[in-house]
Amino acid sequence: MMGPKIVIEPPGPKAKEVLEKNKEYLVTTTQGVPYVVIKRGRGIFVEDVDGNVYIDFASGIGVLNTGHTPEPVINAIKEQIDKFIHFSLTDFYYEIPLKLAEELFRITPGNHKKKVFYGNSGTEANEAALKVAKYYTNRPYIIAFIGAFHGRTMGSLSLTASKPVHKRRFFPMMPGVVHVPYPNPYRPPFGYEGNDLGKAVVDYIRDFVFEKFVPPDEVAAIFVEPIQGEGGYVVPPRDFFPELRKLANEYGIILVDDEVQMGMGRTGKWWAIENFGIVPDIITSAKALASGMPLGATIIRAEYDFPESGSHATTFGGNPVSCAAAIATIKMIEERNLLENARKQGEYLHKRLRELQEKYEQYIGDVRGIGLAQAIEIVKDSKTKEYYPELRGKIVEEASKLGLILLGCGKSAIRFIPPLIVEKEHIDVAIEILEKAIARAIEAVK
Ligand SMILES: Cc1ncc(COP(=O)(O)O)c(C=O)c1O
Repeated sequence: MMGPKIVIEPPGPKAKEVLEKNKEYLVTTTQGVPYVVIKRGRGIFVEDVDGNVYIDFASGIGVLNTGHTPEPVINAIKEQIDKFIHFSLTDFYYEIPLKLAEELFRITPGNHKKKVFYGNSGTEANEAALKVAKYYTNRPYIIAFIGAFHGRTMGSLSLTASKPVHKRRFFPMMPGVVHVPYPNPYRPPFGYEGNDLGKAVVDYIRDFVFEKFVPPDEVAAIFVEPIQGEGGYVVPPRDFFPELRKLANEYGIILVDDEVQMGMGRTGKWWAIENFGIVPDIITSAKALASGMPLGATIIRAEYDFPESGSHATTFGGNPVSCAAAIATIKMIEERNLLENARKQGEYLHKRLRELQEKYEQYIGDVRGIGLAQAIEIVKDSKTKEYYPELRGKIVEEASKLGLILLGCGKSAIRFIPPLIVEKEHIDVAIEILEKAIARAIEAVK
């Protein structure tokens, strides 16, 4: 299974069968590329049940940073499975989560003493951060950002604000969450035109939220994504995080950096926040942490720890097989220089996307991203910036038919998040397919 071959119009007969049963058997969740029914994956390629081969620029939604079936990770998993699969950190002890903790503390910013809580997913990592922040500060309010995605369990969902569908019929949310605008340079809130948008947003929190209705000394935490992921791969301006850090310091508010989608090397640094030169108080991670094994981590300042056991725990958290996979993931990223590769290939990908923007300047309104977290925003007309989700959807669909797996994000954007092992040649193939897909899609939606 090597090299992308042009796909025969999927879904093929076997895929169709799976898609139908899927609808019948599984609770409706979200809907990605409609046609890809995977049989196996290797590196950055995926083969479907009908034998079509795709190049994967979605990475299982930002999970497979080390690629599909990475050998060192598989070996670590096999080795651990032979020893024991589960014992439960809630009541018993074993060594491997401690080894992983040492690795995580080594690669997370800040010289302060750290502790880690292990869960199974991104949403759980954020739930833990919520509970730790509330317990430690004994304060009721949380600040989160419009456009944010922090998960779908009720605590994290209360912080999420990227699409109304996530919240419909699920009220009441957790009380005390106040949403404020995120500094989106392409679509600045309040039509702001100055060149200090980050500061303007923080001033809004200070002058309107804290002055008018939320006592700042009652705010436990600010939850923020270093780059908004599901919200559209929105990269904030440079002045944002230093200003936000200052605000949090001023009022003793815990700054929670949600690295679930952007962490583990995606931007060319271990954590995306490192691109902005500040140290958060809590980092939450999941997705790429264990190369596809379920694992979440909430890395906190040690002093935030609960004073008594039982305030928070989960049966599977710190699963030894997941921990082994995570240790191997970190090692592989280091040994193969994947941070460097993410930076280098990210720059190349960005350049190629900009070239496409020049060619399709009416429809590609924006090209943005850091490292291998790149996106284009599809619009009806780049002068008016009117959203064009129909064209976006069609491009993603046509790309999949041509052998390129992509994912949308935000209202009208497409993200490009290949595994960090991606090479220049893969990017060239992806851009070639994308270009064809755009041309076909424009024809189809006309
Ligand atoms: C930034 C961010 N936080 C949290 C989550 C939730 O993670 P999970 O789906 O593992 O619960 C996601 C998922 O997309 C995410 O992108």
